[in-house]
Amino acid sequence: MSESTNPVRYEVEGAIAVICIDNPPVNAASQAVREGLVAAMARFAEGPEKVAVIHGAGRTFVAGADIKEFGKPPTEPMLPRVVDTVEAQEKPVVCVLHGTALGGGLELALAAHYRVALRSARIGLPEVNLGILPGAGGTQRLPRLIGLIPAVEIFTSARQVGAEEALELGIVDALSEEEPRVAGLNFAAGILARGDGPRRIRDLPGPKVDAEAVAELRAKVARANRGEIAHLAALDVAVKGAGLPFAEALAEERKAFTTLMESPQRAALIHVFFAERKAAQLPELKGVTARPVAHLGVIGGGTMGGGIAVAGLLNGRRVTLIERDAAAAEKAREGIARTLADSVRRGKLTGDRRAELLETALTTSADNAALAEADVIVEAVFESMEVKREVFATLDRVAKPGAILATNTSYLDVNEIAAATSRPADVLGLHFFSPAHVMRLLEIVVADRTAPEVVATGFALARALQKIPVRAGVCDGFIGNRMLRVYRLAADHMVLDGASPYAIDRALTDFGFAMGPYAVADLAGLDIGHATRERLRPTKPAEERWGDWPDRLHALGRLGRKTGRGYYIYDAESPRGRPDPEVEALVAEERAAKGITARALSDDEIVERYLAAMINEGARIVEEGIARRPLDVDVVKIHGYAFPRWRGGPMHHADTLGLDRVLATIRAAAAEDAHFWQPAPLLARLASEGRGFASLDED
Ligand code: 3HC
Ligand code: NAI
Repeated sequence: MSESTNPVRYEVEGAIAVICIDNPPVNAASQAVREGLVAAMARFAEGPEKVAVIHGAGRTFVAGADIKEFGKPPTEPMLPRVVDTVEAQEKPVVCVLHGTALGGGLELALAAHYRVALRSARIGLPEVNLGILPGAGGTQRLPRLIGLIPAVEIFTSARQVGAEEALELGIVDALSEEEPRVAGLNFAAGILARGDGPRRIRDLPGPKVDAEAVAELRAKVARANRGEIAHLAALDVAVKGAGLPFAEALAEERKAFTTLMESPQRAALIHVFFAERKAAQLPELKGVTARPVAHLGVIGGGTMGGGIAVAGLLNGRRVTLIERDAAAAEKAREGIARTLADSVRRGKLTGDRRAELLETALTTSADNAALAEADVIVEAVFESMEVKREVFATLDRVAKPGAILATNTSYLDVNEIAAATSRPADVLGLHFFSPAHVMRLLEIVVADRTAPEVVATGFALARALQKIPVRAGVCDGFIGNRMLRVYRLAADHMVLDGASPYAIDRALTDFGFAMGPYAVADLAGLDIGHATRERLRPTKPAEERWGDWPDRLHALGRLGRKTGRGYYIYDAESPRGRPDPEVEALVAEERAAKGITARALSDDEIVERYLAAMINEGARIVEEGIARRPLDVDVVKIHGYAFPRWRGGPMHHADTLGLDRVLATIRAAAAEDAHFWQPAPLLARLASEGRGFASLDED
């Protein structure tokens, strides 16, 4: 490797070797970095320098292995060899941690003999988020350093530990306020002055294993990560390694790491890691400047408007919220105050900051003129085209020139809403999810005439509010809700054919969804689904099969959790809901009236059909350009609809299953209902060409 391409620099400062890793953006331990580190260690071993300092250039120490290399054949020198080389040095090596020292980065530091952290540094072993476990000694060195339970808690939770806590736990030896190079030089000077030598974690005894505490933690980790394999594998290998000589413990770790590296869960989670980042970067917005987003206006202070206002306040925006009258504005303010109090209870906000936000950053009013200064105004009034058009006509009068006018509509035509203004280029959809200050997904709905800089501002606002933005085109329900309608219909068909709603929910939670569609509907309210059906009824094709039973439940006033009864019964005996025989009786009545003989559907059939309906509609959405790429669909379903992240989203999952198999499910179901089960042309084409959806994810 030539000096100019080597991302690892070696400089000499008196008796100190200063080794700088410079591999932007996050100093990932790529092949070149690993090779550079091995070479630097060889030079240090042979040279006259007495201490080595390893630090990172730019924003962070090493943030982990290079994830782009995963799934490709491994290249030498592998990270475990690199860290062993560091640990084996006969002269002391110090690592300076700043930014986010994660995964392989922290493992490199654990192999060094001393660790200094900048006060702002955050450290962690987040490998389980990628479906793997720390594979360069992390599961063995950290427990030997700080004890088994605290170490396992860190790498099974994937949490980032602050520098202060890392010092208390004994992960780092000192904190510094200096910049990394100076912090390292100062620490190394201390080593030289004291004449300290190397100090290796591998020489520490194995950690004590408290079987009871391990069992307790294991149960907790299993509960929190249902369906995932990496967390328990990491815990198990740490426990196993505790009783083994260090070299054997490392070999066990490597074995477990390699197994996970080959798992579909790893492939799915890496897909999601890159999909989330790619979704947030639209190639067509390169070089397009966003407008300012300092002052957020919100119209409508109900469930969504209140949540959007809180998201703005928590992320440093000024917020002006408009309600219909003074009493409603006051009610909205009280709701926001309550949500912020909740944030204080959760430790996300101090009491003083909450008071300050309510006093100085939030304005609530019944006068639309108060929106005159807002940079972006999000409308979250009732889901009615008439009401929305009226609101947008008002906004057109009161908003300043250049203000962005956004609608949070769930389904309605954003072009029609934009046409109520004289400035359609400034209008777009910003579809938040409930609760809006918690849910990370934001569909950015681009209408026919939305200007590129308005789209860029939508993406900039998403970043400012810590959301994951996904571009969507205009259609009924955009990406997420349009798909939801279709797979929910597939579920309703299966109920008519013989499955109980409870069997469907169970099969889908077993697959990995946090909740099944009927439990979700109870949470959202049966009025929402009913309103959608009523809106679509006039244009419903005659052949489309709808069950009447959800509307009959609605007519009985069973609106879900809020009325104590929906698809399930909610009461003191079952606050999370229990099946209701009356629902099954209602369904049985409809089957009898329609002459349907109930048949048994296995859990596998339920899951296959539900997913096939989801994937098929996802393919249509991609083909129509409503979603730019399949990965955008995956991000929407994972972040807005609780699709299990470790399965990679529906389109990635389709690739894992094989598109032929998805197509076969659709064709088999079409024998019963040829109208509903028409294969999306894109799905059929890709399957016939032997390609997967991933082939469309490239730019
Ligand atoms: N490898 C390769 N690229 C990486 C990377 C990694 N480990 N981490 C981040 N990147 C890339 C991102 O893809 C992104 O690229 P882009 O600009 O082309 O989209 C760029 O770096 C910046 O990343 P973010 O947009 O995420 O920047 P943030 O500042 O928001 O976050 C971060 C920085 C906290 C480091 C975050 O990127 C992150 O969490 N990265 C993953 C860390 C991780 O999981 N490390 C463990 C890796 S596995 C491992 O080490 C195995 C070992 O045990 C053997
Ligand atoms: P909501 O009924 O809780 O709140 C609507 C609020 O708007 C009410 O407080 C009402 O007083 C106010 N309002 C009505 N007309 C107004 C006007 N002209 N000026 C000022 N305020 C006015 O409704 P919710 O659930 O907050 O929904 C709002 C919008 O967000 C709808 O378009 C809905 O489809 C969409 N949405 C809802 C989601 C949800 O889960 N509830 C999720 C995503 C989008």
